[in-house]
Amino acid sequence: MVSTSTQIAGFLFDNCLMNAAGVACMTKEELAEVKDSAAGTFVTKTATLEFRQGNPEPRYQDVPLGSINSMGLPNNGLDYYLDYLLELQESEPNRTFFLSLVGMSPEETHTILKKVQASDFKGITELNLSCPNVPGKPQIAYDFETTEKILSEVFAYFKKPLGIKLPPYFDIVHFDQAAEIFNKYPLKFVNCVNSIGNGLYIEDESVVIRPKNGFGGIGGQYIKPTALANVHAFYQRLKPEIQIIGTGGVLTGRDAFEHILCGASMVQVGTTLHKEGVVAFERITAELKTIMEEKGYESLEDFRGKLKYIEG
Ligand code: DHB
Repeated sequence: MVSTSTQIAGFLFDNCLMNAAGVACMTKEELAEVKDSAAGTFVTKTATLEFRQGNPEPRYQDVPLGSINSMGLPNNGLDYYLDYLLELQESEPNRTFFLSLVGMSPEETHTILKKVQASDFKGITELNLSCPNVPGKPQIAYDFETTEKILSEVFAYFKKPLGIKLPPYFDIVHFDQAAEIFNKYPLKFVNCVNSIGNGLYIEDESVVIRPKNGFGGIGGQYIKPTALANVHAFYQRLKPEIQIIGTGGVLTGRDAFEHILCGASMVQVGTTLHKEGVVAFERITAELKTIMEEKGYESLEDFRGKLKYIEG
């Protein structure tokens, strides 16, 4: 019997597929739909301390090879997601869910994380260091000094399971420098990758989203090679206690297989989930299981991280 079950931070999940933060996760209704699908779990929309309206619409556009978005962190505020997760802990005590969050400033990030630390939340927290869409706010994880400062401060008080969502890196030296920082902290995982920031998609003579004159984060088929490179680069460099979540360009079971081959322990689906709805989880899982059966693999451990190189 082929299984796509996995574990993150010691928690078991019956399937390694889940949504990527930003898709199908703004409201409790959307989260419940992912929860009750073939997905192994869900992650919430990245929560800030307070409700945010986000950028003006249109701000997300599906395009033939992927998607472009400049949402601007619209969300219902930390308490909305935390309250729902605390409810689910009672009604579904055997499942574990992910809370994504970030502050609009380092101070706000600490305020939020201290609230989570003080709460009864027993799930997994993902600190988003990679939102590309808030005008005037750079992606935190492209600034290694700020990233290290935040992590060192956070782990002084935050004792629950914590991972970070990363932007894609494009240089070997940046993989080295980032991994050296992450290896100093008791992170449970890194999630590679967020969208490729600030692309531009044009139809006829116009951009397709309103904010930032059309600049937005790119997802989907465009980004799979970059996503796989980031998953594998961190798999090679991080201490084994830090697991990898693979995100980017997952349309098929083959794409999920490649993420796991590069070292992913969990695989997230964003653009494809937006295009296809939660039935994508069933389809991609079935496709992944077919590939595993053909290759004689019974579990993800049989091939995780076992990417082959061309020797000589
Ligand atoms: C948004 C986009 C991101 O890629 C992210 O990590 C967080 C927020 C957004 O625009 O809402």
